[in-house]
Amino acid sequence: MKNFITTDDWTRSDLQEILDYAKYLKKERFQDTLKNKSVALLFFNPSMRTRTSFEIGVQELGGYAVVLHPGKDAWPIEFKKNALMDQDSEEHIIEVAKVLSEYCDLIAVRSFPKFQDINEDISDNVIKSFEKFSTVPVVNMETITHPCQELAHILSLQEEIGDLDGKNYLITWTYHPKPLNTAVANSSLLIASKFGMNVKLLCPTEDYILHESFISKAQENCSKNNASFEITHNIEDGYSDADIVYAKSWGAINYFNDANNEKILRDKFKNFIVDEKKMALTNNAKFSHCIPLRRNIKATDAVMDSDYCIAVQEAANRLHVQKSLLTTLLKGK
Ligand code: CP
Repeated sequence: MKNFITTDDWTRSDLQEILDYAKYLKKERFQDTLKNKSVALLFFNPSMRTRTSFEIGVQELGGYAVVLHPGKDAWPIEFKKNALMDQDSEEHIIEVAKVLSEYCDLIAVRSFPKFQDINEDISDNVIKSFEKFSTVPVVNMETITHPCQELAHILSLQEEIGDLDGKNYLITWTYHPKPLNTAVANSSLLIASKFGMNVKLLCPTEDYILHESFISKAQENCSKNNASFEITHNIEDGYSDADIVYAKSWGAINYFNDANNEKILRDKFKNFIVDEKKMALTNNAKFSHCIPLRRNIKATDAVMDSDYCIAVQEAANRLHVQKSLLTTLLKGK
């Protein structure tokens, strides 16, 4: 049984197969590959695109999706081993995962990092617990990484650019008033490096460098692909010669549990907004963002409304890649 927790567990050719079938599903939208199959979609955090694309995607393949929000319309769940459950949680992940596995053919989970303890966030305990106790495949709908977004990102870049090997890829931090989680940025490092691109990470200071586990994985992938990996805090250096600009905001890892001082630091870097002047430094780059995006905070109206912005295309491709992924995971079951 195969799970989809991180793309790091999958080979490039296996991921490419999912992308190729997604291209087919984009043309031939309605299939019966999930006929008589049920999928549980568990959201511990809000969503617009992920919920809609998964729920509609399952339906378009002839299956049934049930959406649950533990702690809201479903019981709060305990994840600690051997917990004395005298607080808010009404049931333990052991029973939740086993019972859902009896009803459903696949369980998908969204559980954002809490941004209080980096080691706890990196351990990815919520989805790893589902993986441990479920007897059906488990899919990550965004935890410490966002692998479904990665698939949609690469599909959109292949549609626009073609072969991605040797292309110059910039992942840039951009301003946002709150410290957002690092999932999409981590994912961006994993997938750009896996698909053979020269990867540059642009962030304001050392405080915003992503967790070493993702940096070292990106370095390792780039090295295997004879591609370069670089970290820069210089905006001009970051944008120059980029073929792809991917933007995301995230909180400074060195300021976990110190939101007030992180805010003082981040407010100095509103100039990291993606604008036309910066995009003019690139090699006619495509621009994307996972959205939701605050216009004129993270990227200007001019960038979002430009021909080179493919953020909506990437969001639309979530539907097709996820349908392809679910079909792959449930094939022959
Ligand atoms: N990009 C993304 O996952 O969007 P939602 O948070 O709306 O699901």
